[in-house]
Amino acid sequence: IDEPLVLGIETSCDETGVGIVRGTTLLADAVASSVDTHARFGGVVPEIASRAHLEAMVPTIQRALKDAGIAASDLDGIAVTAGPGLAGALLVGTTAAKAYAYALGKPLYGVNHLASHICVDQLEHGKLPEPTMALLVSGGHSSLLLAPDITSDVRPMGATIDDAAGEAFDKIARVLHLGFPGGPVIDRLAREGDPKAIHFPRGLTGSRDPAYDFSFSGLKTAVARWIEAKRNAGEEVPVRDVAASFQEAVVDVLTRKAVRACKDEGVDHLMIGGGVAANSRLRALAAERCEKAGIKVRVPRPGLCTDNGAMVAALGAEMVARGRAASDWDLSADSSLPV
Ligand code: KG4
Ligand code: ZN
Repeated sequence: IDEPLVLGIETSCDETGVGIVRGTTLLADAVASSVDTHARFGGVVPEIASRAHLEAMVPTIQRALKDAGIAASDLDGIAVTAGPGLAGALLVGTTAAKAYAYALGKPLYGVNHLASHICVDQLEHGKLPEPTMALLVSGGHSSLLLAPDITSDVRPMGATIDDAAGEAFDKIARVLHLGFPGGPVIDRLAREGDPKAIHFPRGLTGSRDPAYDFSFSGLKTAVARWIEAKRNAGEEVPVRDVAASFQEAVVDVLTRKAVRACKDEGVDHLMIGGGVAANSRLRALAAERCEKAGIKVRVPRPGLCTDNGAMVAALGAEMVARGRAASDWDLSADSSLPV
């Protein structure tokens, strides 16, 4: 099938996403988020996420079908995130996908969440060149991935050894009493701050450190200590400067290592995805450094960078188009599914 019509279901974290694509064309992207419910706990509560998915699942599927203006019987396949993610949340999505696929007599495709974060860019910028290098940064992951084949061969180059980049944003926002999620607020405040005001540590950038791995917990601690020292001294915390300096430390390391990975592997494209890809400073610095290195940057629009169903549908469609085997009916959810 040349331009397969595929519905994708994403429930790995707190967004119930249902997307429908025809080949690389986006037809519908319905998302129901339980982020507001989690906000008062300062993070995603797995049990609450699972219940919210269960409530939102069928209405979100119905909305996506209506938005796309298609009948479920027209679908060429149903794709679903099989992992990694929150176990209970994944179970709701995989169970729903199986039920629909079985009832409709359609093939089922279990896909990897990280691979679909990469593949979603096809909906915005057309077919991805292969191999593709991807920097995936969100609340749950920070990875550099080399993808010779997005449907079957995605290799981890490096990953965070402690906190994810988005997690660091969220934790610093909490220390600064800025609410959850912290990324967007810090991004906004940082625009009015001085990124050079305070020099925070760049994790794992020593000459003997692993070239492509990340570490943000030392940075997080350094920022928290700096703020605490100010408060203990009875001084006002320069929130905008802290936000800008912290953000600079994160995006400096992310872009430096991503560019190095591209150069080392001879890849002239860098895809950036995940919720943190919405960060304006990350986009600007990546554009600047990649241009110098002759690397093209591909970043989908923010709505496609955060978790959504369209990315799952995009990868599912690619699998159908390439004639990849469908999943068996005993497909399971795997919270730590490797790429
Ligand atoms: O991909 P996503 O929606 O969910 C997963 O974690 O998988 O990413 C959410 C993360 C949160 O940590 C949020 O603070 C961060 O992405 N984020 C940002 C920005 N927008 C969202 N971080 C930095 N700058 C932003 N503009
Ligand atoms: Zn994600």
